[in-house]
Amino acid sequence: MSKLTGYIYDIIMGPFERKKLHRIRYNLLSKAAGKVLEIGSGTGVNFPYYKEVTVTALEPDESMRERSLAKSKQSRASIEVRNGDAQELEFEDNTFDTVVGTLVLCTIPNPRQALKEIRRVCKPNGLILLFEHVRLEKGITAKAQDILNPIWRKISGGCNLNRETISLLREEGLVLTEVNEYLKGIFLSIEAVNQKDEKIISV
Ligand SMILES: C[S@@+](CC[C@H](N)C(=O)[O-])C[C@H]1O[C@@H](n2cnc3c(N)ncnc32)[C@H](O)[C@@H]1O
Repeated sequence: MSKLTGYIYDIIMGPFERKKLHRIRYNLLSKAAGKVLEIGSGTGVNFPYYKEVTVTALEPDESMRERSLAKSKQSRASIEVRNGDAQELEFEDNTFDTVVGTLVLCTIPNPRQALKEIRRVCKPNGLILLFEHVRLEKGITAKAQDILNPIWRKISGGCNLNRETISLLREEGLVLTEVNEYLKGIFLSIEAVNQKDEKIISV
């Protein structure tokens, strides 16, 4: 991607962030605890919401990562920004208390592989906090998401409109403890437990 990607992303997303996403991010990220891994941190838009945690933030795109780096220096939390791919994490098993991903499973080429890696590096019964846009289950909007996806993916740098993220999370063994819908269910905030041993009831 170009050097300008991060700059343009912040300009385009700015009004939507302030109007809609701010409160969602605030509510979700206030739950992050302990040692946190954030995948695909983009321009560091989540960083102001972290408190009393230690964050390792991975961002593969150089232009986005530069902005993440700048924002990490203004945060109250201790944040280290690194280059890294969620599909191939460089960390030992059971390293993190919380893993965060926002608007990122839509873009990662193989989200199933990323989830396997997230499960591996997250501690048993650790917290997984996600905010994603997803394919609706049925109806005309779901059809439109399918039809528009090929062109959208091209112009948006690989973002997919029609990922069935909830099914994927369940298939990969995550225990969903809270799911909140926004904008008619296209956006979801998701809290999940990384069950590796004990049985926890899913919502
Ligand atoms: C739509 S942006 C979201 C950025 C930020 N998380 C947010 O909430 O605004 C998607 C991000 O995922 C990153 N990404 C794409 N593929 C990735 C991968 N394999 N591993 C980690 N991050 C990835 C992109 O570079 C981009 O910064």
